Amino acid sequence: MEQKDSAAEGRFHRRIEAGEKIEPKDWMSDKYRRQLIRLISQHAHSEIVGMLPEGNWITRAPSLRRKLGLLAKVQDEAGHGLYLYCAAETLGVSREEMTEQLLSGAGSGAGELRTGKPQIHKTGGRGRYAASLPDVQIKAAEGG
Ligand SMILES: [Fe+2]
Repeated sequence: MEQKDSAAEGRFHRRIEAGEKIEPKDWMSDKYRRQLIRLISQHAHSEIVGMLPEGNWITRAPSLRRKLGLLAKVQDEAGHGLYLYCAAETLGVSREEMTEQLLSGAGSGAGELRTGKPQIHKTGGRGRYAASLPDVQIKAAEGG
């Protein structure tokens, strides 16, 4: 079994060295897959958390034009996060698992969220979350 994994690992590295693209369903070691999931989900979390302070300013923007600009920025960041969560899901992790990791701070360095004011919580079905701030609520739902 170990020899078989070693041969697969060799083929995998030769594919990378040859510049081939590795698809989520292709063989990769568990360690490599876990690392990819960790990196992509961390990036997704940072997009979602990054939009929270931006959202906090929407109600304080001095004009409708400025509010629209901030809304677009927040929407962009939510979209980036959702694309990244979807990419991580193709590697075999669920949105729920990633959300739990974000909220618990497990392996993420995001433990400060547990006591921070912004909070992300499930609002119902699969892939539906809301981020709440003291005076603003931002809802994000997966596209399909
Ligand atoms: Fe972004």
